[in-house]
Amino acid sequence: TDVHQRARTGPVPEDRAIDAAVDSAYRRARDRHDGAVADYIPVLAGADPDAFGLCVADVDGGLHEAGQTRVPFSIQSISKAFAYALLCEAVGHHEVRELVGVNSTGLAFNSVIAIEMNDGHPMNPMVNAGAIATTALLPGGSPDGQWRFLHEGLSRFAGHELILDDEVYRSESGTNQRNQAIAALLHSYGRMRTDPAEAVDVYTRQCSLRVDARDLAVMGATLADGGVNPLTGDQVVSADVCRDTLAVMAASGLYQTSGEWLFEIGLPGKSGVAGGLVTVAPGKVGIGAYAPRLDAAGNSVRGQVATAYLARSLGLNIF
Ligand code: DON
Repeated sequence: TDVHQRARTGPVPEDRAIDAAVDSAYRRARDRHDGAVADYIPVLAGADPDAFGLCVADVDGGLHEAGQTRVPFSIQSISKAFAYALLCEAVGHHEVRELVGVNSTGLAFNSVIAIEMNDGHPMNPMVNAGAIATTALLPGGSPDGQWRFLHEGLSRFAGHELILDDEVYRSESGTNQRNQAIAALLHSYGRMRTDPAEAVDVYTRQCSLRVDARDLAVMGATLADGGVNPLTGDQVVSADVCRDTLAVMAASGLYQTSGEWLFEIGLPGKSGVAGGLVTVAPGKVGIGAYAPRLDAAGNSVRGQVATAYLARSLGLNIF
């Protein structure tokens, strides 16, 4: 039952090999200037389009970094993977599969049509509908209690207390009518057990937590390590929950381009619209990247290029 034992198909790459690969991946991806910084959340438009940081955290606790790995940005959709893990840990595999689902939608992350096409089912926890449904199911007893549960759990994944970026939270709260509509639509199908507006508010706080590329690498390494944070030794979630989480990340972590990502890179990943990208090589490493220019699906261009290089040069593809 230990996901990290079974998934360890080869040895963890040597420190020096990881250092060299991170350096080359960083230099290659830095040449890419295509893509666009997200601006539908107004404050995100102010990000430095050339910012770029890359970090690999191995399951033995080693960190391998290049570029701006300590520049903070909001976690955004990457929080969905970790909120999902915390919910699976709290309520169990079957309940979550039933209520939130695990199938890819093949549509954009904030698609309303996807909900309508599936009888009001949110489909999976990586798209906004399923992520809001996930947050609404979290333990805590009230929106503030749910927020405390999430804040503590995501911080344990990172190995230190994460800070809420107030400016992002306010900017997104003023412009998240689409997410409010998604939650209201789920509510109309009888699929929200809490107040939809409050669920969106907790979800928006969750997305506004500040991380850096190093944090993402450590969070990914915790999923790679059967739920144990390799820096703190804290067992954040069980190995079974890691397996569930990695499965949905593989199926839909990069939205409508998840299939292509899996085909090219062969690893579960999760992107965020601020430019973060986390990738997990089970039993081996977590990869954290930050580069705000995104492709049309909302995934970091440099993050994908750097991660593809790392996966190939270190032989991380799980297939
Ligand atoms: O709900 C939203 O639209 C944002 N808080 C998160 C979206 C996101 O990160 C999609 N990513 N690539």
